[in-house]
Amino acid sequence: MCGIVGYIGNKDASPILLAGLKRLEYRGYDSYGFCFINEGKASLFKRVGKIERTEKEFVDCNFKGNLAICHSRWATTGLVTEENAHPHSDCKGEIFVVHNGIIENYKELRTKLINEGHVFKSETDTEVLAHLIEKHFDGVLEDAVRKALKEVRGTYGLAVVSTKDPDKLVAARLSSPLIIGVGVDELLVASDPSAIIARTRQIIILDDYEIAVLRKDGFNIFKEEVENKKQIETIEWDIEQAEKGGYEHFMLKEIMEEGNVIEDAIRGRMLKEEGLVKLGGLDSVEKELRDIEKIILIGCGTAHYACKVGEYMLEEYADIPAETDIGSEFRYRKPVVDKNTAAIFVSQSGETADTLAALKEMKEKGILTLGVTNVVGSSQSRETNAGVYTRSGPEIAVASTKALVGQLTTLAMITVYLGRQREMALVMGKRIVEELIKLPQLAETILKTREDIKKIAEKYKDYRDFWYIGRKYNFPVALEGALKLKEISYIHAEGAAGGELKHGPLALVDENCPTIAICPTDSVYEKMISNIEEVKARKGKVIAIATEGNEEIGKIADDVIYIPKTLEMLTPIISVIPLHLFAYYIASALGRDIDKPKNLAKSVTVE
Ligand code: F6R
Repeated sequence: MCGIVGYIGNKDASPILLAGLKRLEYRGYDSYGFCFINEGKASLFKRVGKIERTEKEFVDCNFKGNLAICHSRWATTGLVTEENAHPHSDCKGEIFVVHNGIIENYKELRTKLINEGHVFKSETDTEVLAHLIEKHFDGVLEDAVRKALKEVRGTYGLAVVSTKDPDKLVAARLSSPLIIGVGVDELLVASDPSAIIARTRQIIILDDYEIAVLRKDGFNIFKEEVENKKQIETIEWDIEQAEKGGYEHFMLKEIMEEGNVIEDAIRGRMLKEEGLVKLGGLDSVEKELRDIEKIILIGCGTAHYACKVGEYMLEEYADIPAETDIGSEFRYRKPVVDKNTAAIFVSQSGETADTLAALKEMKEKGILTLGVTNVVGSSQSRETNAGVYTRSGPEIAVASTKALVGQLTTLAMITVYLGRQREMALVMGKRIVEELIKLPQLAETILKTREDIKKIAEKYKDYRDFWYIGRKYNFPVALEGALKLKEISYIHAEGAAGGELKHGPLALVDENCPTIAICPTDSVYEKMISNIEEVKARKGKVIAIATEGNEEIGKIADDVIYIPKTLEMLTPIISVIPLHLFAYYIASALGRDIDKPKNLAKSVTVE
């Protein structure tokens, strides 16, 4: 996720874009950049880090121009460096592009363009767009953009300007949001309304495959070269709401992105026919991974629950002995490892001190270390031997939600990668890949039921204790559900393996302590039903998370939230979604400070 803003009009673009871009920093903040077109010349400004660090320097440059584009980056391809910050340009420095999205075939395109003589300055996928537009440029910018986009596979929201066609701004979209702001004698383009709301509330939402050409005196929008007359909409949100995409909290916005997170994580990585997963970040250690006989997965809090699911996946499908630990314990243990052990570190921020300390320990022992990380260029991603980025975009709410979904998806992909290096059959590889491809849609169907989940949450909001139970793949999901409820609603909740209830927790179950049972129709379903009956026999209320079509469960449970059917190993990726929504709506009903719960910080950089 990155932020884009562009301006064409009669005013000085610099302060307008600066204010707009600061509003988009929630979409990405590892580096930023501007390009101004003035009197046929282009001026560029790029810096690493948040805008506030170098804002004065930018303002002191006193850039002039009524046509400009800018970008706030959340790295996906290429490290966090000034060279990789947008805008990117062609060989001659005449065409400038800012982009949000992923160009899946950028490696092939880059090689082809280099062979044709193009010179690249960055490691990014975006730069291929600038060179492709250069290749097709014949005096009319939008024609070149259209031709260039025919060659790319992937997603984009982009804004393009050129000194060779200097009176226009061209914008295009495919699966990455982009809007046009229609102001008085000015037009703007942005990733979302928060960037432009201070100047205009009149917007046009660009649709997939549309290309917009903005000039000082008007605009045209085309689809397949045919002009599309689009409706101008008026936004009623205030600035704060706009930043949250119209949602009341970042947490809800992030939960609602969980389907997209799966899609972004798998994008360009699924080889359906071969039943394989392509993970470029593991290429450098592909051979070493073949010899690995044991894997230790380490993370903290929610990331640790992802590890726990990963342990089950790796053992069942890749046939590799796996164990899991939390960072703060692992570093004080005396783990038995040898040269055939690998450690996978899972972290959203890549800066969690306990996880990094465990990573240091493992590096000192000389074992292979891999990262499953969201933040590109973070300490974890730099310190591990290799790894896979989860591509979940910035997570602003303190309580982690969408990042977990990205971690689980990534661990499932790693399982296929390692499994297929070993005994996993082609048909099984294909099956998992096919089911992974379906997951974003399944996640969306759950998200659509959020009003029903809200009603259930409101019904249970006044209870002070909850149990969450699950077995096998859904045992860690139970732990996650309980953690989320504790964190943001301050209600006491515990997670347990269903089979453990009778070993102690049942003593607490009564009519005042509801149980959330994650019981999809899978290999442990019957066992979960026995556990639900144990709860019911003690007058405990039960909310079941069950598979669509299971009507029986309604006869035992007090309330049921349905999720679609998928492969058992992939269930946690979607069964966690209703639990995130449930915790959110309880906290919301209780009026809690959801995005910033008391006593907690987003990234725990101390031991
Ligand atoms: C829970 C939560 C924390 C983090 C944990 C690890 O909602 O946010 O438990 O999951 O602090 O953080 P990362 O993933 O950044 O290492």
